Amino acid sequence: MTRILVVGAGGREHALVRRLLRSPQHPELLCAPGNAGIARDKVECVAVGAEDVEGIVALARERAVDLVVVGPEAPLVAGVVDALAEAGITAFGPTAAAARIEGSKRFAKELMAAVGVPTAGYRVLHDRDDALAALAEASYPVVLKADALAAGKGVAICADAEAARAAVEEMFTELRFGATEVVMEEFLEGEELSLLALCDGERAVPMAPAQDYKRIHDGDEGPNTGGMGSYSPVPGFDREHAEALCLAVHQPIVDELRRRGTPFHGVLYAGLMMTADGPKVLEYNARFGDPETQAVLTRLRSDLLALLQAATEPGGLAGAELEWSPDWAVTVVLASRGYPASSSKGDEISGLRAADGMEVEVLHAGTAERDGKVVTAGGRVLNVTGIGASPEQARANAYRVAERIDFDGKQMRHDIGARAVARVQEVAP
Ligand code: AMP
Ligand code: GLY
Repeated sequence: MTRILVVGAGGREHALVRRLLRSPQHPELLCAPGNAGIARDKVECVAVGAEDVEGIVALARERAVDLVVVGPEAPLVAGVVDALAEAGITAFGPTAAAARIEGSKRFAKELMAAVGVPTAGYRVLHDRDDALAALAEASYPVVLKADALAAGKGVAICADAEAARAAVEEMFTELRFGATEVVMEEFLEGEELSLLALCDGERAVPMAPAQDYKRIHDGDEGPNTGGMGSYSPVPGFDREHAEALCLAVHQPIVDELRRRGTPFHGVLYAGLMMTADGPKVLEYNARFGDPETQAVLTRLRSDLLALLQAATEPGGLAGAELEWSPDWAVTVVLASRGYPASSSKGDEISGLRAADGMEVEVLHAGTAERDGKVVTAGGRVLNVTGIGASPEQARANAYRVAERIDFDGKQMRHDIGARAVARVQEVAP
């Protein structure tokens, strides 16, 4: 029997676990460290942190794991896939050299420039003086990005010079993101789209498109978060669009990384702005998106395990066809009090059975078990995905359950998927 270790503790990993459990190969699953929801799916959760590279290798070796599936970016950037390969263990995800596309904004920008992927114009700022000089000449709004992994929080969109100066002090003087360079980039307008592609070192195969909601409050107000909701598919953006976009923004990167001797295996995630001048890349991630994955994977009909296995082999995805359900999926994130600035822990969660018998999937993102009860254990706590034949139906299903689940300080957006509902009505004849 195939034994798989899923690395990570969030909603994305719970979604991966659920889909792997449905594989016709009936794999045996382990998770490190996992969460209360993954444990309740009768998957063994081992207390090894996702970022503990040596611990992950030791666990995979000890348990004779056939495939390690790495969820989060930090262990990828830290080289967990390289360390596993050295130990003779196959892993789904890029090596540290290929994961730099997420780990360094500057590297990603240089790669895009080298292969002609459309993106915002930019300039690298090396220090505070350099930055202040650049701000004097900038047009506003301007975007400043710390060149480090910052869980979505290292990006400042500055309306004017004063806001930009404050961000520069935060990045260069207070070293909020460590000693990093800063990428200053042109502000782009349009609607965002997340397009993930499975990559086998040679080819990029697009998955279903999704949209993510980054801000904490309704109407895209308030600070950026890791993501407060998502939906899939995206109205007006069909399979042909996805394939064309993948050829324009994923395939050239896969080709270039292969040419440089650092082939990309895993998920290459492009965060795009659909501007009046066409799509432009905002960022690449080297992993499944969170919470896009929760919406996207509910619609996948193909065997996820076979696809992940194929992606670990050079050219293994040749001829792969991904099959998608025509249903819509809307994922609402329930977050804890204080998120994203802080998070509260240990609050008891009620109503977890509200989804029983409905077309709704409840995934755990930051939960723990205490005295037989599920309690909050992080910023993003639960993900509620409604499924339906229309975006209205999927959205209504998600909210019916999201309203019934409760914990002290619960935060959620009320407008997830509303855009898809409006768009479908516009597009409809
Ligand atoms: P990133 O981590 O680079 O994707 O940035 C996080 C979020 O900031 C994106 O999802 C966008 O909402 C916003 N953003 C990043 N870059 C730009 C840009 N050049 N113009 C407008 N918004 C941006
Ligand atoms: N949802 C944004 C991300 O996964 O980076």
